[in-house]
Amino acid sequence: MPDRLDQFVSQRSALSRREAKRAVGAGRVTVDGVPCRDAARKVSEADRVCLDDQPLAAAGPRYLMLHKPAGVVSATRDSDHPTVLDLLPPDLARGLHLVGRLDRDTTGLLLLTDDGQWSHRITSPRRDCPKTYRVDLAEPLTDDAARQLAEGLVLNGEDRPTRPAIVTQLAPDRIELTIAEGRYHQVKRMLGAVGNRVTALHRLRVGAIALDPALAPGDFRALSQDEITSVA
Ligand code: URA
Repeated sequence: MPDRLDQFVSQRSALSRREAKRAVGAGRVTVDGVPCRDAARKVSEADRVCLDDQPLAAAGPRYLMLHKPAGVVSATRDSDHPTVLDLLPPDLARGLHLVGRLDRDTTGLLLLTDDGQWSHRITSPRRDCPKTYRVDLAEPLTDDAARQLAEGLVLNGEDRPTRPAIVTQLAPDRIELTIAEGRYHQVKRMLGAVGNRVTALHRLRVGAIALDPALAPGDFRALSQDEITSVA
């Protein structure tokens, strides 16, 4: 379907609609090689549109990683608290969904996309996608508790044991825990089941995608092509 030229440009570049309109007015946009200053002109994929001599490709699906800070809700809307989508520019946030959720007080790696099939490959219980957390504990973890976490244990109110997990001790009261499930409050409930308590929870990795150490809490970036295709 044909779009207005300014809309077409803003959908395929980092420019807002207003900036795209100005770029068109300034003669920075060409249609089939000819500068066009008419922002209302109708164009379609059949037209070769360039901004500053760069061809504008059709907007593809979007994949982002966000360093979730504490205090922000993993939801697209919340009446009481800011949501992770509030951390993104509105134009970028539009149409994105969260790939899994983190509790409000949990920090770290959160993925967002508008590609439902891709996110399903991460969240589907049948796919076993591993998620790794750094877990700070109220009490030092005993050897017996580490063994129970690793082997699988029954959570309060459930009858099916958790799947085997990988436990790496970083300090007496700090572990890295890798689980391949996503049950409700799973990490906190697993530690509760062995008589301990989580004091801080931070997600480090989802599958092969690691939180970029260059991202401060609240920052985000687009995933690289390798990160996107690592989710098979
Ligand atoms: N497990 C939890 O208990 N909380 C999270 O936010 C993520 C995993």
